[in-house]
Amino acid sequence: MAPGRVNLIGEHIDYCDGYVLPLAIERQAVVVGRRRDDTTAKLRSTVMDGEAVFEIDEAPVGLGEPSWSRYLRGVAAFSYTPTGFELMLDSNVPAGGGLSSSAAIEVATATFLEALGGLSFEPVNKALLCQMAEHRFGGAKCGIMDQFISVMGQAGNALLIDCVDYSTRSVPLDPAQLAVLIINTNSPHQLGDAYNRRRASTVTALKATGKAGWREVSAADLEAARSALDDETFRRGRHVVGEIARTTQCAQAMDAGDWPQVGELMYSSHESLRDDFEVSTPELDKLVELAAAMGPDAGVIGARMTGGGFGGCTVTLVRADALEAVQGELVAGYRRDTGVEPTAFATRPAAGARVLTL
Ligand code: GLA
Repeated sequence: MAPGRVNLIGEHIDYCDGYVLPLAIERQAVVVGRRRDDTTAKLRSTVMDGEAVFEIDEAPVGLGEPSWSRYLRGVAAFSYTPTGFELMLDSNVPAGGGLSSSAAIEVATATFLEALGGLSFEPVNKALLCQMAEHRFGGAKCGIMDQFISVMGQAGNALLIDCVDYSTRSVPLDPAQLAVLIINTNSPHQLGDAYNRRRASTVTALKATGKAGWREVSAADLEAARSALDDETFRRGRHVVGEIARTTQCAQAMDAGDWPQVGELMYSSHESLRDDFEVSTPELDKLVELAAAMGPDAGVIGARMTGGGFGGCTVTLVRADALEAVQGELVAGYRRDTGVEPTAFATRPAAGARVLTL
């Protein structure tokens, strides 16, 4: 089984030499299966229609149908599969919610295949092979965040991941003090091409600075390259530079227990994603505005959109004793102002993927 994730800060910079600060959530994909005596793979799902059947000996495995099976096929193509197998996939990570439902499926499949093949990958290698499955079979040129946290999540901690050297640092989140509230706008997110276009524009912006990587780019460097860029591409780059700084500052502020600072950084991250990176939606903005209006007196520390954007969820950090009241008010306010019923749940930071013995 492997969890989905929510990201506290560090959005759209895992493919820009950035840092990210996600935690694994208490929602997961589960793969149950067994070895076969032949070379056939059969995949079914409790939540999605159709059955995928393919031969593990065939190269390449191919994209195939039904479309949900592509993530699993991709992982199978890059894993050690000495025999055929059959499996059933179940998941309670909402699809299209920006909570990494696809990474959870990939990492759960890799975990199943490790057990089946009798070997285990190094955590970084496992995350990278799942990322490659997403690139080649899922169609999104995602960064490393989702697969990393699904593999390496730690109960009680968010993880600051350095997307250059792949090192990680635990950032404690005490559930007795703090609640992580996830609210799904229920306006489905469609990453597809928009995500890949955002990624491409960050490559263009970096090139104009003449630097080898985003870590070396200051706000002044980007400003100096402004005339070589159109306004939109410049703003994409400005988001990257600002978000890298905000993410390291946020991890430090969390260590120091400086919650007002954490809140400010979350709101600035949201504004940058809304105005410069343009991946937010009016529904996400609405939830963040409602949270900001409630403010620290009501127990709200900070809020922002989380994940790829274009719909999906917000993450709100809330004082644990105020959770129920904050959740109730945000849900009611969103329903009142949009006419849409959101889905809200709180999560503790959960552990990463593991084998469950039945
Ligand atoms: C998606 C991708 C991640 C990351 C986020 C945005 O979830 O899969 O790699 O880029 O969007 O932070």
